[in-house]
Amino acid sequence: MKRIAMITGVNGQDGSYLSEFLLSKDYEVHGIIRRHSTICTQRIDHIINNSSFKDKFFLHYGDLTDSCSLAELIRKIKPTEVYNLAAQSHVGISFEVPEYTAEATGVSTIKILEAIRQNKPDCRFYQASTSELFGGIPSTVPQSETTPFYPKSPYGAAKLYSYWITVNYREAYNMFACNGILFNHESPRRGEEFVTRKITIAVAKIMAGKQDKLSLGNLNAKRDWGYAGDYVEGMWLMLQQDKPDDYVLATNETHTVREFVEAAFEEVGIKIEWRGSGIDEKGYDSKSGKLLVDVNPKYFRPAEVELLLGDPSKAEKQLGWKRKVKFRELVKIMMISDTKTITPPLMTD
Ligand code: NAP
Ligand code: GDD
Repeated sequence: MKRIAMITGVNGQDGSYLSEFLLSKDYEVHGIIRRHSTICTQRIDHIINNSSFKDKFFLHYGDLTDSCSLAELIRKIKPTEVYNLAAQSHVGISFEVPEYTAEATGVSTIKILEAIRQNKPDCRFYQASTSELFGGIPSTVPQSETTPFYPKSPYGAAKLYSYWITVNYREAYNMFACNGILFNHESPRRGEEFVTRKITIAVAKIMAGKQDKLSLGNLNAKRDWGYAGDYVEGMWLMLQQDKPDDYVLATNETHTVREFVEAAFEEVGIKIEWRGSGIDEKGYDSKSGKLLVDVNPKYFRPAEVELLLGDPSKAEKQLGWKRKVKFRELVKIMMISDTKTITPPLMTD
């Protein structure tokens, strides 16, 4: 049978890695992009411009908030698998655009599920669920498929709806619908407003003399950070099983934002020395004494998820999935990439 995948959010971080992965497995891939006033396909340009994918990779305009376009796309493409990756995916920004986040990250999921149910009910469905669902119960770690949910943001609450409507369509209509409850995963393609990429870009710019210091919010937050390239394989594995189910993908390791900062600076030979506490905490170059990191309350969130640490043992056992890239290697990959892109200014007379 011809394998046809439809990916919403194809030009996001995960969409780009998943496209590469599925094309390597000989899928026909249909990516959904929304219209921008400028072209925003940087993460998939290498696929678009690769002539060997000319008859395998297709882009279509659509929008998560527009059920007409989603239904028409399902009718036209007739996918065998849909990966619903599109979302307003920034937790901090969801406090600023809460209603839009509810629409794009929550209600949109039922639009896609209904479009599948009515037009291609045998199509398998992957929902990009998240560790943000666990949010507010830090005592329950590591978090697994059986940990109670307690979202702490408009983003988390919208994803909670998407999680349950996916379970509901599986149970009510016998659809092959799965939730991947993914913990944070990063890469050189990570959006620049997420903390890891903000840090690696800043360190590269500081080294190139293009930025003075890095300003951050909560340095104590702990995250279970993996590599996006590893996680897209897990998404695909979920849809290859005999029965639909929900799975956690995580590394089972957690690190503070502060540790990520230290590791990124270590990659360029700088040891950070911390002085002060709370909003007065600052990070200095231990050799030169130069101020490199400070805290700016504008990056604090109205409510914060303090600790995420995932237990991926169900996915490891049932899917045979295992993350390959470890924390320090991830920081290194991102630092190498940003250091290459951000070069020092040319010397002029
Ligand atoms: P991302 O880089 O922010 O990509 C999100 C994608 O969604 C972008 O391509 C974006 O398009 C698209 N999108 C947003 N609003 C849309 C709309 N109204 N209509 C159509 N497309 C829209 O996110 P990611 O890191 O790849 O994450 C993929 C999914 O996994 C998201 O649902 C995210 O919430 C979830 N997730 C991510 C992580 C993680 O750590 N990365 C962990 C758990 C779950 P534009 O490029 O046009 O903006
Ligand atoms: N973005 C950002 N910017 N975060 C900061 C900053 C800053 O300047 N300073 C500290 N942080 C802290 C945040 O408060 C949070 O505790 C942590 O760094 C990680 O923030 P993000 O990188 O923005 O990611 P996130 O954990 O909120 O959300 C990501 O992971 C979720 C899975 O757990 C996103 O990819 C979500 O879409 C995803 O669901």
